[in-house]
Amino acid sequence: MATHSLRVVSDRAAPLLQVDSVSLEFRTSGRIVRATHRVSFDVHAGDRFVLLGPSGCGKSTLLKAVAGFVAPAEGEIRLEGRRVQQPGPDRIVVFQEFDQLPPWKTVVQNVMFPLRQARGLSRAEARERALDSLEKVGLADFADAYPHTLSGGMKQRVAIARALAMRPKVLLMDEPFAALDALTRRRMQEELLALWDNAGFTLLFVTHSIEEALVVGSRILLLSPHPGRVRAELNSHQFSLASQGGTEFQAAAQRIHTMLFGEPAAEPQPPRARRAVGR
Ligand SMILES: Nc1ncnc2c1ncn2[C@@H]1O[C@H](COP(=O)(O)OP(=O)(O)O)[C@@H](O)[C@H]1O
Ligand SMILES: [Mg+2]
Repeated sequence: MATHSLRVVSDRAAPLLQVDSVSLEFRTSGRIVRATHRVSFDVHAGDRFVLLGPSGCGKSTLLKAVAGFVAPAEGEIRLEGRRVQQPGPDRIVVFQEFDQLPPWKTVVQNVMFPLRQARGLSRAEARERALDSLEKVGLADFADAYPHTLSGGMKQRVAIARALAMRPKVLLMDEPFAALDALTRRRMQEELLALWDNAGFTLLFVTHSIEEALVVGSRILLLSPHPGRVRAELNSHQFSLASQGGTEFQAAAQRIHTMLFGEPAAEPQPPRARRAVGR
């Protein structure tokens, strides 16, 4: 752990990940859809870097490009100075879907699988590392359970444990908590931050929620609507779950909303459903 933090400090000068003027396009039946337009940003080791923007602005496509699944139409993505050209175990993606765990494998087998396949660890080494990773996300007691016996939040923790066990250079998360109920989502955000404190990884996190971006991120890249272009890059390490209700947090959320949509967020409306029920 000590050597790891030292390395993080000494790497601070050079970015770990560079996204350099990247445009991403889809060609479908003769039409070209531009998902992002010349997007640039640097992620440093230890950052919790958030891509924030409205639905359809190209966040998922950007993450897939960093993961190596989508090639840029122009520009370049570099990890530790080397051009990203294909997927690799140094970049692991955690998705939103719960059912990313094969149901016929137990929890520990799910975490072990990529360690054996992609990292080439022996069964014993993989098991030890998998159990260690499950311990970190608080699921050591569920190692031999099957995914269908777990809640959505627990399955998502297994997916995170599986990703962290691979010790990727960057952990990529695409709206990982979007499908969870509000309370579970909040707990997962809390756990992710605690995990980041303990394990000290580099995170690239996608969300369309301004609040989530402020809570999770140490830096936030704001993307404009389709095609995604960089609107601004902000520091947000001063905000946390604890400050979420506070006036400073609300003011920052309001500022971001204005930057994204050109006008302040509307005052909360009286809930329609409740009025309808009253009628
Ligand atoms: N496989 C695909 N084929 C064609 N167009 C796509 C594909 N995936 C995404 N797009 C388009 O690219 C744009 C960005 O999509 P996406 O990256 O999913 O946005 P976000 O994650 O920000 O909601 C959208 O206009 C979407 O319709
Ligand atoms: Mg998306």
